[in-house]
Amino acid sequence: MVAKRVPLIAGNWKMNLDHLQSIAFVQKLAWSLKDAKHTYDTVEVAVFPPFTDLRSVQTLVSADKYELTFGGQDVSAFDSGAYTGEISGAFLKSLDCTYVIIGHSERRTLHHEGDDEIAAKVAAAIRHDLVPVLCVGETADDLEKHGPSAVPVAQLKAALAGVTAGADIVVAYEPVWAIGSGQAATPEQAEQVAGQLRLTLVELIGQDAADATRILYGGSVKSSNIAGFMRQPNVDGALVGGASLDLAEFSSIVQFQKHVGT
Ligand code: PGA
Repeated sequence: MVAKRVPLIAGNWKMNLDHLQSIAFVQKLAWSLKDAKHTYDTVEVAVFPPFTDLRSVQTLVSADKYELTFGGQDVSAFDSGAYTGEISGAFLKSLDCTYVIIGHSERRTLHHEGDDEIAAKVAAAIRHDLVPVLCVGETADDLEKHGPSAVPVAQLKAALAGVTAGADIVVAYEPVWAIGSGQAATPEQAEQVAGQLRLTLVELIGQDAADATRILYGGSVKSSNIAGFMRQPNVDGALVGGASLDLAEFSSIVQFQKHVGT
């Protein structure tokens, strides 16, 4: 039987909002979602603030019992030691992070993270009981040369090479050409790749875990296009960048059922 997947709407703040701004933002977000309480029953909402905000977000979420989850935007492949500037998965776990983003295209491109490093980070996250939100996606050039699925599927295989059957992960399909460009993929394009990714997950982690894995679409998601993605059978949510910093927009994306009309 196919597992029922709770949709996940995740806000990737990137290098925006300091710890004081994060407190104000999370409070306002929680208040705006409280008015739409029904959304909490059927949608999980997660935020990914910069590392320096995590302690503030944790304190707020636990004190006020906000129904939000959160995570880091990256993690070290190592657990501790002489790795200046790195953040251990153990530290994220001790701040109650549920998730950690791994392999975002900005890290692959700007920080030259390759498949081996990303696989080591996925293993580190799992070792510390964090759920990796593994980002995969093709560039415009890849799309032209190899079609839509080849690169994301290869990245998924490489990242999960050391992962055992049954692993708890989230996969974010983020075409690089759609990130921050205002030009999202079509829902059909997203579904085509998400379907291929799920088939690959069956090989890698087994049928049950593949059925339970949330596959998100990311890349220029807005309140005006979220419904189309959420109607697709293999798309289980969104990883939202720019629009996650706009309270009204993000809150409207979270309440996507209104747009889907279910
Ligand atoms: P965007 O970013 O929504 O601004 O396109 C998505 C992401 O990078 O995760």
